[in-house]
Amino acid sequence: MNDIKNKIDHLRKGIERHNKLYYAKQNPEISDTEYDNLVKELEKLERDYPLFASKDSPTQKVSGTVSSSFEKVKHAVPMLSLDNTYSEEEIGKWYERTIKAITNYELQIANENGKAHRENTASCNDSNQDLPLQTDEAGEAIQKSALSFTVEPKIDGVSASLTYVNGVLAIGATRGDGETGEDITENIKTIRDIPHKLKDNPPAFFELRGEVYMDKESFAAINEEIIENGGQKFANPRNAASGSLRQKNPQITASRRLRFFVHSFGDIKGLSFSTHSDFLEYCKKCGFKLQKDIKTCRSLKEITDFSLEMLEKRETLPYEIDGLVIKVDSYGLQKELGYTNKSPRWAIAYKFPAKQATTKLNQIRVQVGRTGIITPSAVLEPVPLAGVTISHATLHNFEEIERLNVNEGDTVLIERAGDVIPKIVKVTVKNSEGFFKPPKHCPSCQSEIVKESEEEAAYRCVNPECPAQFRRHLIHFVSRNAMNIDGFGEVVIDQLLEKEKLKTLADIYALTFDDFLGLELFKEKKANNLMKSIAESKKRPLSKLLFALGIRHAGEKVSEIIAKRFITMDALFTASVGDFIKINEIGDVLAVSLKEFFEKPEMRHITNALKAAGVNMTEPESENPGTAFEGKTFVLTGELANYTREKATEIIKSLGGRTSSSVSKKTSYVLAGAEAGSKLEKAKELGVQVISEAEFEELIK
Ligand code: IVH
Repeated sequence: MNDIKNKIDHLRKGIERHNKLYYAKQNPEISDTEYDNLVKELEKLERDYPLFASKDSPTQKVSGTVSSSFEKVKHAVPMLSLDNTYSEEEIGKWYERTIKAITNYELQIANENGKAHRENTASCNDSNQDLPLQTDEAGEAIQKSALSFTVEPKIDGVSASLTYVNGVLAIGATRGDGETGEDITENIKTIRDIPHKLKDNPPAFFELRGEVYMDKESFAAINEEIIENGGQKFANPRNAASGSLRQKNPQITASRRLRFFVHSFGDIKGLSFSTHSDFLEYCKKCGFKLQKDIKTCRSLKEITDFSLEMLEKRETLPYEIDGLVIKVDSYGLQKELGYTNKSPRWAIAYKFPAKQATTKLNQIRVQVGRTGIITPSAVLEPVPLAGVTISHATLHNFEEIERLNVNEGDTVLIERAGDVIPKIVKVTVKNSEGFFKPPKHCPSCQSEIVKESEEEAAYRCVNPECPAQFRRHLIHFVSRNAMNIDGFGEVVIDQLLEKEKLKTLADIYALTFDDFLGLELFKEKKANNLMKSIAESKKRPLSKLLFALGIRHAGEKVSEIIAKRFITMDALFTASVGDFIKINEIGDVLAVSLKEFFEKPEMRHITNALKAAGVNMTEPESENPGTAFEGKTFVLTGELANYTREKATEIIKSLGGRTSSSVSKKTSYVLAGAEAGSKLEKAKELGVQVISEAEFEELIK
């Protein structure tokens, strides 16, 4: 018995830990399937040994955590989770149970209606007694939707709650622990699928729920950008959506191109629906987008057929789905079926099988990135998986290798989760000793490898002259979002490195037509084009050059912000940490990193060489905004009569100012419209100047 108790405790602790990794850190260690299996195992033990049941068990609570860095929002109606299964048999059982409950309910309604009908009608036809009579609206709704299920793809994203007061978006919140979420209103407002105002005669209060997600295309683009900036990429679109949604700076959220599909609601006042499909139709009228693949099913066969259809279609959808959600369509019946303490009985998630396969790990390769980070990756025995042949898997970092206890030669279970490159879930057959250790020396320059701090999972080659780092930096420097030198791909770079034509970044500008003619497959035209691209790149604005130079912690956005603020490279060289901190978007860590970057003698050296080669060192005037609001930060709150938030923000930016979502001592003005809330209070508290819409109009004149 003690063993059982220990096993239960162990499972509970493990599940709580995985919940934290998944929700708070957006960095899960195990796949969804493995997680679901742990929960199922615990549920079974708790069922078999009710003696050990506890209301604190993760099986009894909605998972999720509330972060401390956002304001808290208490949900008017708890945001629950869905019961889920991978098995067709279990779906069949759920269906049977549901139909039985529906039938009982209908009989009850029919009897009540029948009674009412008999009482009201003198001539009653006895043979009709058992049929549901359509004597009122509820009866009609049931008749219409009896045995009717709405089946929707289960979007692999993050759930969010949107509250509209008199049709105006007032609060956007995360699910949090189901009871309390985080106030992410400003971030939610950057999502283009979410209307700020509802069309079609909105109700007084409308709290609806849906899934914020990142489509596959944006996910790939963002990961590419993160890698170019030397960062750690997101493991799947759901983590990317979650990380992007919980940014402190809404501009970053905006740049992540998140999307939204509505799927349910918490509370509505001043309007009611009789079915879920009516609710969805109404949301469409309000201005929301609905998924294309929503189907009304009237039998188990229709549900399982649709599931097979969607399983096939899954890869072709622009976003990730991990199954289907089957919902009883009638709200009357939903009410009757009710809830457990964790999930509704009227719905179930039918999850797709994980995209997994087993193969042999032939080799662990170690690569050096642009910033010196050493990353391991797995070379696999090629294996087919979800329509493609897989020969590589990511291993994230050396901690992951230790956790998996994986080494070359082992047989491993791999899984594709959103990303094209799959990850290793676990070792299935251990053919080796221990786990693969990080190298002591850089595979490129043989310098010592260092682990910069205990908290950091990254190992780094810190030799600034490391050839592998330099090669990666060249690839980044010429890339589209940096200096945009078209035709200067990896093949060209490798050949030029081989011929020792590139020793510093500035050497790119010393290359001659003949240097290119000497490369494989290069003829006159191609060499000419490349010379033209190089010449063109000299005109790139300072912001792009800064991004190309690769400042640690500073991506495209920060490069743009500092270029617009300082205008010339010379001004950046003389700026102090304090000058950088004055910029609203720049915090202490980044300000120090910027200062360190511009202090490095080699940076002076490289920029001098680039300048001498004719590379532009300024941000062009045409791209500079007006200057009336130069250095001023605005916070908008409440409803403006003559401007939407976007319009007001656009005007502020066009005059050189910035907007921020939260009031701090650095805020120059709080622009307060009607029904301004807590931000106005905060401004008063901090002594920040508050201006009305009329005063704003004066200023912009
Ligand atoms: S209905 C009581 N419909 O899946 C919750 N949820 O695992 C009713 N999800 O928390 C939700 N797609 O965030 C519903 N078409 C869909 C969904 C969906 C994704 C999410 C949702 C929910 C989670 C449960």
